[in-house]
Amino acid sequence: MNTKKTLRDIDPRERRVLVRVDFNVPIDEKGNILDDSRIRASLKTINYLIDKRAKVILMSHLDRPKGPDPRFSLANVAERLSRLLNKEVKFVPQVVGELVDRELESLKPGEVLLLENVRFHPGETKNDEELAKKLASYCDIFVNDAFGTAHRKHASTYGVALYVKESAMGFLMEEEVEYFFKAFESPVRPFVALIGGAKVSSKLGVIRHLIDKVDKIIIGGAMAFTFLKARGYNIGKSLVEDDYMELARELEVLAKSKKVKFYLPVDFVVATEVRDNAPTAIRAYQEIPANMMGLDIGPATLQLIREILQDAQTIIWNGPFGVFELERFRSGSVELARLVANLGVFSVAGGGETEALLNVAGVRDRFSHVSTGGGAFLELLEKGTLPCIEVLNEK
Ligand code: 3PG
Repeated sequence: MNTKKTLRDIDPRERRVLVRVDFNVPIDEKGNILDDSRIRASLKTINYLIDKRAKVILMSHLDRPKGPDPRFSLANVAERLSRLLNKEVKFVPQVVGELVDRELESLKPGEVLLLENVRFHPGETKNDEELAKKLASYCDIFVNDAFGTAHRKHASTYGVALYVKESAMGFLMEEEVEYFFKAFESPVRPFVALIGGAKVSSKLGVIRHLIDKVDKIIIGGAMAFTFLKARGYNIGKSLVEDDYMELARELEVLAKSKKVKFYLPVDFVVATEVRDNAPTAIRAYQEIPANMMGLDIGPATLQLIREILQDAQTIIWNGPFGVFELERFRSGSVELARLVANLGVFSVAGGGETEALLNVAGVRDRFSHVSTGGGAFLELLEKGTLPCIEVLNEK
């Protein structure tokens, strides 16, 4: 993956460069942008291409529309991007077709054109060959900078790369790949993984892959209860996936066989209900009352993790360790984030809620790298590569 061409390996001058970005920003019901971090994350690549006098054509998806739907138009994104670049961004309300052809004919070096939401086209998510070929015909070079979508084999992310003359990673994609490689291919050890979240079923592959790579794994979040129940403990009303207990047991056996230390929380903040003003108590993992559920990690667990991480040199983190959405059950995850940040070692975090958590804890900037990917980051953790990166040209 780190042998792929990057922007520095191509000559974009005066050429049409089609860039797949991930402008899948959160929007309100009127389509207003709530957070433009993902647009900002692409600026480095776009500015570089403008400076090099490329004819820049951008494309992205936004949300999951079933077809054309004005709420999910990229028109607002074009406006925001234009403000961030301090430069006109032409917007064409079409993915492929005559309007696009006309705009492309008049596109000059240093100018930027944004196509409409690629998911308005029925061929996008089917990785339709015709659509991929048409998109490829728009450019001399294809650049993929959409790390967040690099696990989706769609026409604008994967198919298009099969039909272009030349392709490369953008700066954002390159950065994501570099940090991932630094963590996984040549980690300074001990290498510790923190894996939280609600369901073990969604992270089986991730944990299996991590067992091959790390020295220690610490499990948190509701998925810990599936492991605890599999060990034979009463977990009260805590969230559990009974169908996955056997697999959970197998993962622990696998970790043991590979001499990877495997840790579960040793105490929890428990309550009878998942609500902010619910009365809470701290209970050890063997003593969760039958009518209560574990909703956050307790102080003994934090102390244990502090000890486990004492000599850690590389840390990878995905998923909160409690019901982070509710203030009452957030402090374990927040404390953990601060603990990792304070260690000052090489730390990579990613995946949906993890980024939000680091923002709440105020330590986002103190992690070595926070991935822009949700599903893509998880798939990278699980498979060690992503299809839309694999398909790009080698150096
Ligand atoms: C994301 O937000 O994770 C990416 O943009 C991918 O979006 P998707 O899950 O709708 O494909």
